[in-house]
Amino acid sequence: MNLSELLKVRIYGDILRGKLTSNMINELDTWVNYADKMKSYPEFKVLEHENAGSGYNFFQLSIPPHLVYGTLTMAAIIKLIEFETMSDMRTYGISTRSGHLDYLDLWINYSYKNNENPIHIHPNGVLSCVIYYEKCNEIPTLFDDKKIFGEKGDFIIFPSDKAHSVPINDSNEPRITFALNIKKY
Ligand SMILES: [Fe+2]
Repeated sequence: MNLSELLKVRIYGDILRGKLTSNMINELDTWVNYADKMKSYPEFKVLEHENAGSGYNFFQLSIPPHLVYGTLTMAAIIKLIEFETMSDMRTYGISTRSGHLDYLDLWINYSYKNNENPIHIHPNGVLSCVIYYEKCNEIPTLFDDKKIFGEKGDFIIFPSDKAHSVPINDSNEPRITFALNIKKY
């Protein structure tokens, strides 16, 4: 199986773009269901994933390892990076946050009306990935040289030090994405 073909990979400069399969998108639904459940609890803020976008987005929550490990989505992202960079197996992995309750550097972003994510980089990785879930075909990710819209299941991979932002959500529907940082061993 050619992973790049399976994931419909296209390269635009230093940004790789692809689309998860329907089975992988089902896994995203599981992650969103978990996050929605936690978000419905009054004490949900104790789980907040703290990073550059915190304080500008309504809620960011790390997806716990037991929902991530063993998924097609995680394997596909890591193996795709190894394939595209012609690296050996076990060169790349999802960044962890040891000593931090977030465990994995893979989180969900809820951007509600008037939320935004100002320009930032991701210090905890060499590559970063954004997976689009909801409302991203109208509210893009902005890079200084590109504006990227995405349908559910679309993803981008880019250098972690590439600055980007997300404009204000002026709609009544939440924009939902996942983000993850990739480290090199
Ligand atoms: Fe970001």
